[in-house]
Amino acid sequence: MDAMERHDVIVVGGGLIGLTIAWRAAQRGLDVLVLERDGCAHGATRAAAGMLAPIAEIDFGTAGESLLALGLESATAWPAFADELAAAIGEPSRLRTDGTLILARDRDEAEALERQLAHRERLGLPVERLLASEARRIEPALVPSLRMALSLPTEASVDPRWVCDALLVAMRAAGAELREGAAVASVTRESGVARGVELESGERLAGEHVVLATGAWAGALANVPVRPVKGQIMLLRDPEGEGLVTHTLRFEHGYLVPRADGIYALGASAEERGFDLTITARPLYELLRDASELVPGILDLEVAEISAGLRPGSPDNLPMIGTVKEDGLILACGHYRNGILLAPLTATMVLDAIAGAELPDVVAPARHTHATVVG
Ligand code: GLY
Repeated sequence: MDAMERHDVIVVGGGLIGLTIAWRAAQRGLDVLVLERDGCAHGATRAAAGMLAPIAEIDFGTAGESLLALGLESATAWPAFADELAAAIGEPSRLRTDGTLILARDRDEAEALERQLAHRERLGLPVERLLASEARRIEPALVPSLRMALSLPTEASVDPRWVCDALLVAMRAAGAELREGAAVASVTRESGVARGVELESGERLAGEHVVLATGAWAGALANVPVRPVKGQIMLLRDPEGEGLVTHTLRFEHGYLVPRADGIYALGASAEERGFDLTITARPLYELLRDASELVPGILDLEVAEISAGLRPGSPDNLPMIGTVKEDGLILACGHYRNGILLAPLTATMVLDAIAGAELPDVVAPARHTHATVVG
C-alpha cells in the first residue's frame, strides 16, 4: 500500500513569494502544501522594507529595462492584491500610495539625479524634478540644506509582515496547508521528473508539481546561480505616531520607508558576505548618518528592531521563474531586490507554468543553462 502523503503542489519556502503562490494555487482548487524550514516569513521577507519601486530601483541597460517591465506589471497588480488580502482578514489594506522622493544633499548628488531623471524621462516614466523648497513643502521634516529631489508619484509600499500575516489566513481559508520546521533535504524524481521532496527527517512527500521559492537558499536544492546579498535594516519607531514623513525617501545607498503606527524602515546595506547574518555597526551607522543628514528628526526616534536578510541575487538581477525543462521542477527564485514587488506576478507566472503555458523568455530558468535539480 502506498502511504505517502500526496499533493498537487508542494511549495518549498514560506516567504512572501511562496505563500502568494500557495494562496493563488489553492484558489484554483489545487491541493497545496507549503514546507518552511524555519517559521514563515523569517528570511528576506522579514528584513524587507516593502517598497514597490520599479521606477526608483531601475538599472541602466537591457536587463534593467526587462526588470522595469516586470516590475511595472506586478506593481499594477498590487492594489487589487492588497485589497483582496485585506478583505480576507477583515482589515483595511496597508498599501501606501504616497509616492517616493529621491533626494540629493549636494551638487554631486544633484548631478546624479539629473542623469536619473533623463533616463526615466527617455523611458516615458512618471517622474518630476522638484526644487528643494517644493520637496520641503510636501515633507517639512526634510533638512533646509536639501539640494533637489525627484518625485515618483506612482510608487507605493507595503508592510511585508502584514502581507504575510494576511496571506497565511487567506491561504488557509482557501485550503492550503503549511508545515513550519520542515526542512527539505532534496527534490525527489520519478523517471527523471521532479515529483516530490524528501525532508531532513527522512519523510518523503509526493507532489505533482514542486515549486522552489527558497530565496537565497535556492542553490541548496537546484543548480541555480542564486547568491545571497546581505541587507541590514532597522525599524525606527516614533512614539508620537505617524507623520514625520509620509513619502518613501530614497538617498544614495539608502531609503526610509514609512509604515503604519509611526514605524519607519531605514535600510539597507548591500553586502556580498555569503550566508552571513551578523549585525555589524558600520552599515547601521552609515544609514543613520546619511538619513539624518536629510531628516534630522529620525535621531529622536526609538530603535525598534535591527535585522539582516539575504536577498536572492541572480547574475542578471532578473528572477528565474518557470519550469526547468529537463526535470519539471518549477523555480520561483532570484528576485534580488524586488521580491515583494514581483510576488503577485510571480504567482501568476507559476500558475501559468503549472498549467503548461510558456512564460516570457526574460524569466526563463534556461538562460542560466545549469538550472537542474540537485539529486
Ligand atoms: N528593494 C530594496 C532592497 O533590496 O534593499
